[in-house]
Amino acid sequence: MKLLVTGGAGFIGSSYVRNRLESRPTDRVVVLDKLTYAGNPANLEGLPEDRLEFVEGDICDREAVAGLVADCDAVVNFAAESHVDRSIAEPDAFIQTDVFGTFVLLEAARDAGVRHLQISTDEVYGSIAEGSFTESSPLDPSSPYSASKAGGDLLVSAFRHTWGVDSLIVRASNNYGPRQHPEKLIPLVILNALHEDAIPLYGDGRQVRNWLFVEDFCRAIDLVLEDGEAGKVYNVGGPDELPNIDVVSRILELTGRDDSLIRRVEDRLGHDPRYSLASERVEALGWKAQVGFAEGIERTVEWYRQNPGWWGPLRSGEYREYYERQYGRKLG
Ligand code: NAD
Ligand code: TYD
Repeated sequence: MKLLVTGGAGFIGSSYVRNRLESRPTDRVVVLDKLTYAGNPANLEGLPEDRLEFVEGDICDREAVAGLVADCDAVVNFAAESHVDRSIAEPDAFIQTDVFGTFVLLEAARDAGVRHLQISTDEVYGSIAEGSFTESSPLDPSSPYSASKAGGDLLVSAFRHTWGVDSLIVRASNNYGPRQHPEKLIPLVILNALHEDAIPLYGDGRQVRNWLFVEDFCRAIDLVLEDGEAGKVYNVGGPDELPNIDVVSRILELTGRDDSLIRRVEDRLGHDPRYSLASERVEALGWKAQVGFAEGIERTVEWYRQNPGWWGPLRSGEYREYYERQYGRKLG
C-alpha cells in the first residue's frame, strides 16, 4: 500500500509514519508537510529512504494535493495548526489549514476515489463535567483550534453524504510521547524542569485531560484505516484522566525537582475544564491502550533526557519568541 500522510513531519504524524514503515515492511509512505514551526524533518530521520518520500508543501495547494492524492491508495490527514494557545493569539492559520486544507484534501480524495482518514480531536465535543463523550455527542467546540477542527470534521461528513467519499474520522484525546513540540504541556514541563525554569500552570491546575500515549494512538489509526467503516467516527481515548497539577507533580518527581518551580499564572481564555472520551467503537475493532500514564510518562521523560540534540535547536528561535509572548508577562 502507498499512503499519503499529510502533516507527517509533526509529532503524531511522524510517529505514525515510523510505526507504519516498521510494521508493514512492503508499504510506502509519501509525507506532505509545509514545515511550519511545528514540522521538523528530524522527526523522520533514520526511516528507510527507499520507502519514504518527503514533499514539502501545503495541503491548501490544490494542484500539488491533487497530484499526490491521485498517486496513493489512501490519505491520512494529520496536517493542522494544533496548539490552542496559538489559536487564541492568532487564529487565521487555523481556519486556513484545518478547514480549507481539509476541504482541498477531500476534493482530491473524491476525484481520485481514495480513502481519506481525518485525524481529529476530542476538543470538538467541548468540555464535559461528568461521564465521557461518545461518537454521537454533539459538537460544541470552545476554542478557535477546536472550532476549526470541527469545521474540518463537518466537511468530511458533508463529502461522505453528498459524494459518497470513502472518508472517516478518528478523534483522539491528548497525546504525549517522544518528539512532541515543547509548546505543549508535557514537553514544556519536562524541559523547564530539566533546566530548572519556572513552570507555568494555568488557573487552579485542576483541569482534567485524558492522556493517550502516542504509539497507542498510532495503532488505533491503522486499525481504523484498514477496518473502519466509511462515514463513521472513531473516538480514541487514553486510559488515564489526570488533573494538570498531578501531571506536573509527577514530572517534577521524575526529574528530581520539587513543586517550588510551579508558577500559577493567569488562566487560558475559555479554558475547557475536562475532556473525556469513550472508545467502545474502536475497541470493538480490537484496540486497547497498552501504555498507561505511569509507564508512558517515564518513557517520555527518559526520551527527552536522552535527546537534547532533538529539542536543543527547537528551544531557540521561533519558540523562544513565542515563549516570551505567551509567558513573559505571566511569569513576570
Ligand atoms: P503538530 O503541530 O506537531 O504537527 C502538525 C504538522 O502539520 C506539522 O508537521 C506542520 O508542519 C504540518 N502542517 C501544518 N500546516 C500545514 C499545511 N497547511 N500543509 C501541510 N502541512 C502542514 O501536531 P500533532 O500534535 O502531531 O497533531 C497532529 C494531528 O492530530 C492534528 O490534526 C491535531 O489536530 C490532531 N490531534 C492532536 C492531538 C494532540 O494531543 N497532539 C490530540 C488529538 C488530535
Ligand atoms: P496543551 O498541552 O496545550 O493541550 P490542550 O490544550 O489541547 O489540552 O494543554 C494541556 C493542559 O495543560 C490544558 O489544560 C492547559 C494546561 N497548560 C498549562 O497549565 N500550562 C501551560 O503552559 C500549557 C501549555 C498548558
